[in-house]
Amino acid sequence: MREAMRVSVCRQPKLRYIMENFVFHSPTEFVFGRDTQKDTGKLVAKYGGKRVLLVYGGGSAERSGLIATVKDALDAEGIFHTVLKDIQPNPTDDKVYEGIALCQEHAVDFILAVGGGSVVDTAKAVALGSCYSGDFWDFYAGKEQPQDALPIGVVLTIPAAGSEGSPNSVITKREGHHKISYRCQLTRPKFAIENPELTMTLPPFQTACGIVDMLCHIFERYFSNTPAPLVNAYSEAIMRDIMDRGLTLRLNPDDYEARADIMWAGTLAHNGLCGVGKVEDWASHRIEHEVSAIYDVAHGAGLACIVPAWLKFVAKSNPDMVWRFAINVMSVNPAGLSTEQIIDEGIALLKDFYHDLGLTTSLRELIGKEPDIDLLVKGLEGNMGKTVGGYVTLTMDDCRKIYEEAL
Ligand code: NZQ
Ligand code: ZN
Repeated sequence: MREAMRVSVCRQPKLRYIMENFVFHSPTEFVFGRDTQKDTGKLVAKYGGKRVLLVYGGGSAERSGLIATVKDALDAEGIFHTVLKDIQPNPTDDKVYEGIALCQEHAVDFILAVGGGSVVDTAKAVALGSCYSGDFWDFYAGKEQPQDALPIGVVLTIPAAGSEGSPNSVITKREGHHKISYRCQLTRPKFAIENPELTMTLPPFQTACGIVDMLCHIFERYFSNTPAPLVNAYSEAIMRDIMDRGLTLRLNPDDYEARADIMWAGTLAHNGLCGVGKVEDWASHRIEHEVSAIYDVAHGAGLACIVPAWLKFVAKSNPDMVWRFAINVMSVNPAGLSTEQIIDEGIALLKDFYHDLGLTTSLRELIGKEPDIDLLVKGLEGNMGKTVGGYVTLTMDDCRKIYEEAL
């Protein structure tokens, strides 16, 4: 029944552009499955690392014993290591400077990140800054282009940001709360170890935030005016699987198969595969980054508030892909419904899904007070300029309405 419905809507919406030329180069070696963290030393050696900066977060990887395992694996290969730890969510520039200083002091030639997006992104910024005589922030501020970076390896502990397979890193400059996403192919990791078992210690809230984030990484590419039927078809399959598996994990967090699907989906969502040939959007991310930069909330939790408000806003002027999403991903039965009703139902079901994950879709509730929308819009304009978005080009006034809708 569900399949039959999808076939009936597989005609393309009224897309306005032709498919773009593209280059897809994903050089990362992904090593997936149980016990794979034990191979860390061999993989670092394979990619030439002899002197390692080991980067990790606020303690979860120490408590689980993962850091001890990784250190043993490095020792077994005779690889020197020094540590940069206590990386916090929404990572800041101060830890990057600390890491660069450690690299210089210890002649580091390889950066090993053990953690999630915050740790991997810090590792990427350190990798860039260590090969540059100026201030690493020059790259994030768009003043300079890097020529080189230290090689990076990843042991992933939370499927969410997709940084293990992406060329992006997101760092916040403490002074002024500037949270900037910087894309640089030099920072794609050499390898990423993904053991789904390592994610079983995640609190349900972090699992949920990761699921919202990876879904949104596909949304940013799926909601596009460029036709790419094959890409849309596999993107829809990944989105449906993330939702199914996300609900499974809510009931049974130790389900290995579900953990495995979610982990691999997080990588596929953001390694570029879902965006090939398409003009991407990224407005939801830009709009959310101001929220997590200013109020220090989890990025995925911020997206759960912003995305439904963004969908509602863009559907008014460009309904086609939102309509398709409602039917093909949210499984709205279109029979007897108008386009507007189909879209409204799809957005309502998405919100229900976020609520089922235990997340709020209200900004006010998320930050525990009235958000300062003037400050959010000012920050967004300062970082992004006059407009954001590719599916619908949004002015700062439009973004203000989206923040208001998300309240
Ligand atoms: O610090 P510890 O103690 O390790 O705790 C972390 C942290 O509190 C915890 N955690 C991670 N793995 C765990 C675990 N707790 C128990 N068991 C485990 N196995 O989870 C918390 C969140 O970690 P974090 O690394 O912040 O999560 P995430 O991967 O969601 O990364 C978020 C950051 O990535 C950026 C976000 O903006 C945010 O700054 N993004 C990076 C992107 C990229 N580089 O391509 C794209 C994304 O859109 C995103 O913007
Ligand atoms: Zn994200």
